[in-house]
Amino acid sequence: MKSSVSMLVRLVVPVLVGLVMVSAVEAADRDKLLSEPGVYGTFAAFRLDADWGKQDQTVRIAQLTVLKGVVEQHREKLAIDLYLLRGLSDRADLLFRVHATELRETQQFLLDLQGSPFGRHLTDSAVFSGLTKKANYVPGMPDNLKADLKAPSEPGPKPYVIVIPIRKDAAWWSLPQEQRAAMMQEHTEAALPYNKTVKRKLYHATGLDDLDFITYFETSRLEDFQSLILALEKVKEYRYNRRFGHPTLLGTVRSLDEIIEVLAQ
Ligand code: HEM
Repeated sequence: MKSSVSMLVRLVVPVLVGLVMVSAVEAADRDKLLSEPGVYGTFAAFRLDADWGKQDQTVRIAQLTVLKGVVEQHREKLAIDLYLLRGLSDRADLLFRVHATELRETQQFLLDLQGSPFGRHLTDSAVFSGLTKKANYVPGMPDNLKADLKAPSEPGPKPYVIVIPIRKDAAWWSLPQEQRAAMMQEHTEAALPYNKTVKRKLYHATGLDDLDFITYFETSRLEDFQSLILALEKVKEYRYNRRFGHPTLLGTVRSLDEIIEVLAQ
């Protein structure tokens, strides 16, 4: 007992000091990182090893407190979002989405995370990165379509997250821009009915990973998301997908404190 209390003090005190220091510095401009082009988005999914749950709850809480410190410290430069995949995805338990203007800042966060007492229980990682860009095809689309795309999303929380990596085939990239644009217009028309209930974000990954795109979605209506995918499978552009998913990640959007609460149980 005495040793677990002293371990708690040894682990928690430096983190609390760190947290006080972090609150004094300005946090990253999250809105900018999440909306502007030229930002790197990294998705890092992890499984917790079998030893995690075998530890005493006091030790787990201490390790989660250190996790909180690591995340809060890096939020100074990065926008960090967390998702719980456990129970909905058999590939991973936790997902971090990190936005940064410099990919090496994301790397430092992931190094600090994995080097922390909590991070030593993270295994089977899958990490992919992409870049946000200005729309390639939307500027050439008809005005009514552009206006429909701008329609605000339905209010209220969107608790589910889906991440689907995509790779197009060589035939797609060798098509002239006008042909790709026509097919992306068809893609957009088929997807528009779901624009209000499915929030989306696109990351370009060609050259940064064995992927071309990372597609990210939030929704409260998984049935709408399923119909959306079925609708998109019917358009020509879909036939150029060489990889769709593998893995598809499904989980729930959570705050850091919620994740800590779940993992402390
Ligand atoms: C709410 C539903 C959706 C809407 C309104 C929508 C609309 C669009 C639009 C307008 C673009 C063109 C962006 C540009 O100008 O560069 C685009 C690109 C793209 N979308 Fe969707 N989309 C939706 C859902 C999906 C889904 C479910 C997937 C696949 C899981 C997907 C995959 C892609 C990909 C990979 C691109 C990039 C294609 C390329 O640049 O070659 N979209 N989408």
